[in-house]
Amino acid sequence: MPFPESRPRRLRATPALRDLVRETVLTPHDFIWPIFVEPGKGVRKPITSMPGQFRYSPDEAAREAKAAYALGVPAVILFGIPEHKDSVGSSAYARDGIIPQAIRAIRKEVPDMLVITDVCLCEYTDHGHCGLVEDGKVLNDDTLDLLAKEAVAHVKAGAGMVAPSDMMDGRVGYIRDVLDEEGFEEIPIMAYSAKYASAFYGPFREAAESSPAFGDRRTYQMDPPNAMEALREAVLDEEEGADILMVKPAGPYLDIVREIREITDLPLAAYQVSGEYAMIEAAAERGWIDGERVMMESLISIKRAGADMILTYYAPRAAALLAG
Ligand code: PBG
Repeated sequence: MPFPESRPRRLRATPALRDLVRETVLTPHDFIWPIFVEPGKGVRKPITSMPGQFRYSPDEAAREAKAAYALGVPAVILFGIPEHKDSVGSSAYARDGIIPQAIRAIRKEVPDMLVITDVCLCEYTDHGHCGLVEDGKVLNDDTLDLLAKEAVAHVKAGAGMVAPSDMMDGRVGYIRDVLDEEGFEEIPIMAYSAKYASAFYGPFREAAESSPAFGDRRTYQMDPPNAMEALREAVLDEEEGADILMVKPAGPYLDIVREIREITDLPLAAYQVSGEYAMIEAAAERGWIDGERVMMESLISIKRAGADMILTYYAPRAAALLAG
């Protein structure tokens, strides 16, 4: 029915009507909070390009995780900055590495919180690439074994889920097999399925000291113009046994979130990355936008596009706002 019979404004007239017809609702349970951990005690180093975010030692990370959990945030995802880097990323799979230390501290302080770990080598290699390098090339198959070792080290320390973010081919299936062999068949895998070679990761690489020493990540992360390729990646990860699929970044890739949502029944995550956060914070700091409202609008848009959960640096702040 056209106007004047139809008047969409009727249902927008009052807060009560708007509450009633709202299609998408955010809750603190939708959020996963990414945190950076480094060795030490009592360490809280502000990350310049991500105002409000810090690099924490395990004890401080545990304290922050507990506060986030109390606000209703069910999970954290951990990124480690190791003391020592080498060509094979040995700190990534060391039994007493920074991530196992942080996992144990968090599990002790807040046992019911889900601790997810990012499984990747770039923070741990001296060349800053996400896999083994030979003659300037990032090797695929030889990297899988190291990623699986890393995943096992995390799970042995108490991680409740692992999230491979390296973008090597076949890593989800490989990690699944090794976890199963080790008796960890109940541990789910959240796959960074459509992870793009994005400039939006800039602040993260500063925070995690993980910029590649030569070249870039374009031979393994996806080319931003491609959408059908993201569907192929999603299907492969599902076939390899992924339990949750992920799209990253989130805001600039909402079409990909929607398209993957339509071809899978698996839960879908989207990662609102460091650059998305930094841009909102920078504009808010200058008074050019209302930071709090843009934060909530950016998150509800990601959920409206089809994400079931959102990895976001805003997790505790948005949860606190939602909790009133
Ligand atoms: C590790 C990894 C990165 C991010 C998450 N996992 C960096 C990268 O791929 O260069 C970026 C997250 C963010 O920007 O917030 N490979």
